[in-house]
Amino acid sequence: MDKHRNISMAAALSLFVGLATAGHADEFDTEDLKRWQAEFMSVVEKGDRLFHGGLKSRNSVSCDQCHPNATNTHPETYPKFQQQLGKVAVLGEMINWCIMNPLESEPLALDSDEMIALQAYIHWERRGVALTPGKH
Ligand code: HEC
Repeated sequence: MDKHRNISMAAALSLFVGLATAGHADEFDTEDLKRWQAEFMSVVEKGDRLFHGGLKSRNSVSCDQCHPNATNTHPETYPKFQQQLGKVAVLGEMINWCIMNPLESEPLALDSDEMIALQAYIHWERRGVALTPGKH
């Protein structure tokens, strides 16, 4: 057997061992799935509360007054060009636009617990809708 072939077989074997080890680290069972789902739904519920008056806006306006049950939020169309922002934006940036304009309040950090909860709620309400990034 030539030397090159031995080297590539050794490389393939170490790659295989590496993948097998990584696979092992990813193991989970139904208890884990239940726990993850419960954690996810608790964040959705937090977002639901924020959306329905839980965000303390300066003018006491809340998201559901214009978007009952997250209607017309179109999360499935993001990222997309947003005229109000003059660029291609992610969903959280448009949520902040509504927080700053209709709610006349301070924008949230995009990775804040409140922003993640609002997005979890909006996406949950629109679950099953086909992704159409960029669509108007
Ligand atoms: C006074 C009415 C009003 C309130 C209150 C309001 N919005 Fe909006 N929202 C709008 C308008 C108007 C637009 C712009 C629609 C457009 O041109 O895409 C919009 C757009 C959005 C979009 C993007 C929709 C799309 O089609 O791309 C999201 C997401 C959104 N709002 C979330 C929120 C959230 C979250 C809140 C609460 C923090 C909120 N809005 C509060 C009126 C409102």
